[in-house]
Amino acid sequence: IFANILRAPEDPILGVTVAYNKDPSPVKLNLGVGAYRTEEGKPLVLNVVRRAEQLLVNDRSRVKEYLPIVGLADFNKLSAKLILGADSPAIKGNLVTTVQCLSGTGSLRVGAEFLAKHYYQRTIYIPNPTWGNHTKIFNLAGLTVKTYRYYDPLTRGLNIQGLLEDLGSAPSGAIVLLHACAHNPTGVDPTLEQWEQIRRLIRSKSLLPFFDSAYQGFASGSLDGDAQSVRMFVGDGGECFIAQSYAKNMGLYGERVGALSIVCRTADVASRVESQLKLVIRPMYSSPPIHGASIVSAILKDRNLYNEWTLELKAMADRIITMRKQLFDALCARGTPGDWSHIIKQIGMFTFTGLSTKQVMFMTKEYHIYLTSDGRISMAGLSSGTVPHLADAIHAAVTT
Ligand code: LMR
Repeated sequence: IFANILRAPEDPILGVTVAYNKDPSPVKLNLGVGAYRTEEGKPLVLNVVRRAEQLLVNDRSRVKEYLPIVGLADFNKLSAKLILGADSPAIKGNLVTTVQCLSGTGSLRVGAEFLAKHYYQRTIYIPNPTWGNHTKIFNLAGLTVKTYRYYDPLTRGLNIQGLLEDLGSAPSGAIVLLHACAHNPTGVDPTLEQWEQIRRLIRSKSLLPFFDSAYQGFASGSLDGDAQSVRMFVGDGGECFIAQSYAKNMGLYGERVGALSIVCRTADVASRVESQLKLVIRPMYSSPPIHGASIVSAILKDRNLYNEWTLELKAMADRIITMRKQLFDALCARGTPGDWSHIIKQIGMFTFTGLSTKQVMFMTKEYHIYLTSDGRISMAGLSSGTVPHLADAIHAAVTT
């Protein structure tokens, strides 16, 4: 019955790894997916994660029962605290409902399904460009996806004017997807003053902010600093959706651990919203997995483990910054034509190089370097040893 089924294309990001895995070249380099690698090019399990896992293994009282539909209660409380702040009035007033979901994607999807079912406005505005999965998540949930201007290729910075114009002409109540920090793929974030302008516009038009927070800890050098955009919106008392992922900042990629928080205007509304979220989650996957959330909550609730985590997270973020400097210096040393200062100006895991799809294809074919076709490089996949190879490839791509 499926004889005529069409072959679907590979995913634009995860498909890069599929192609990389097939390449037998010893010099191949995967800079596609945003996944942290050590200086030796190996995946990293944080020491603090190993310690938390050991605690869990040693605790014989732990069982493998189903979690409640909304997930691990401790994890949910601690996740809300991490993004909204320990003293958040919204948390104290029970205005926030948080449900454990399957990493960032699952949190966005549960939020999208809830909105499609219960919100009168079906249009969501996402930045141009944005993480490739956003369009698919919101489309499949039944929302209409439109874009707002975000990145200016000429200045390689934020197009704040275009952004404000586009959101200014959005229909009242439209949902607006915002990257909390370390915008993926551009590495360009609004300044705090610009966030304030965006917040005022969003609130004045009764738009609904939906934050995607996948890189808390990778942008400003502190977890609290990277939550400022979200806290600004929650601080004004309006509604707000927040999807959190622990894939990058705890390196828990494959554990699929994340959270969706919905900030409401009253505690009663928040509890009714939660009851409806349960109806979204139950027929999708019943309840979330227990292991990853237990690791996160063990770390977040213990002061020593928490402190150790912040140090390891800072070390990951700092190594990425070092890679930015090394790549920039290597291109300057080669006299590669063009201004490459955006490599050191952009923040977070990615550099949005400005390389064309054709140049990316050239680098993959001739240098076995794998990156997404929009020219995004995962700086977290780079090491001192591989910088020269990448710089050679970029130089050749722009001069050939
Ligand atoms: C990325 O953008 O590379 C990551 O968010 C991984 C993914 O799932 O796409």
